[in-house]
Amino acid sequence: MVPESTSSPCAASLLAWYDRHRRDLPWRARPGEVADPYRVWLSEIMLQQTQVQAVIPYFLRFLDRWPTVEALAAADLDAVLAAWAGLGYYARARRLHTCARAVVADFGGSFPDDEAGLRALPGIGAYTAGAIAAIAFDRPAAAVDGNVERVMARAYAIETPLPAAKTAIRERTLAMIPPDRPGDFAQALMDLGATVCTPRNPACGICPWRDGCAGRRAGIAADLPVAAPRKLRPQKHGLVFWVERGDGAVLLRRRPDEGLLGGMLELPSTPWRESPWALKEALPHAPATGGYRLLPGVARHGFTHFLIDLAVASVRLDGPGPAPGPDDQWHRPEAFPGLALPTLTRRAIRHAQTAG
Ligand code: ADE
Repeated sequence: MVPESTSSPCAASLLAWYDRHRRDLPWRARPGEVADPYRVWLSEIMLQQTQVQAVIPYFLRFLDRWPTVEALAAADLDAVLAAWAGLGYYARARRLHTCARAVVADFGGSFPDDEAGLRALPGIGAYTAGAIAAIAFDRPAAAVDGNVERVMARAYAIETPLPAAKTAIRERTLAMIPPDRPGDFAQALMDLGATVCTPRNPACGICPWRDGCAGRRAGIAADLPVAAPRKLRPQKHGLVFWVERGDGAVLLRRRPDEGLLGGMLELPSTPWRESPWALKEALPHAPATGGYRLLPGVARHGFTHFLIDLAVASVRLDGPGPAPGPDDQWHRPEAFPGLALPTLTRRAIRHAQTAG
């Protein structure tokens, strides 16, 4: 019988795997190339809350149009926001622009080359600072996101539920960073999490850590990491207004830049509160007067910290509609797919188009 291996996960086997199987991504330096901090930073900001495949075309367009941080800093904010449309979360695009300006104004166009310096810039949190410091400057920094948490929790069979396990996971990651290749190590962990150590059905048979993985040895890899039981999320209620003009255009409104869904478009709405809205009490919040009809049912959505039900009241105006406020925009439904609409709003629109 072959004795069971007790080797532990290590950077060397991961890097050997990475050298053969690394994903070819447009922001990555090829072997032998020096990483471009501007590309690394731009990609990391775009990858916050957005999948790699969705980011690639945006990244290439931005780079084509603004090839340097100086070019981006000199760009019109509106042009940057328009190029960003579709990636969602406009607050990120605004901070991207502010950050480019700060790098040019305060650092002569060179990004700070360590975690603390990067962390002080707009739009750069702990994870992004670690990722840029490691990938662009080969600093021994950890970039621990959900993917890396999963990989490390499995590799070391960490059964403490998240988020309590975060400290242990971070320490394990920091301890493993190879001094000669921190950037490759960070990216290798990302690739392992994305392509092998996937949330469901991890491909343990082809994993470079298949022998050393404590989670696999214990037969619990696929069940890790353990999530803390979800707290019951409070239920909120809103009522949105579907206001359609004679030409078919519908009124949308931009949310404030800061806060939940900052800068994104939504249907004009009442505030959100603990109890459902009757049409009559919602009408003072309507963007135009008219004979509104309350549609049956609601559109539902779950945010991290609460659930929301949106009722929809619908009206068709005869004339051109009210003069738009500064945050109001009229769009025909055919244009909706190209707009920065959060999932909640897409659901409310669907409801307006299909209910009653
Ligand atoms: N997710 C976050 N940063 C990433 C990167 N640099 N490459 C691939 N996926 C990522």
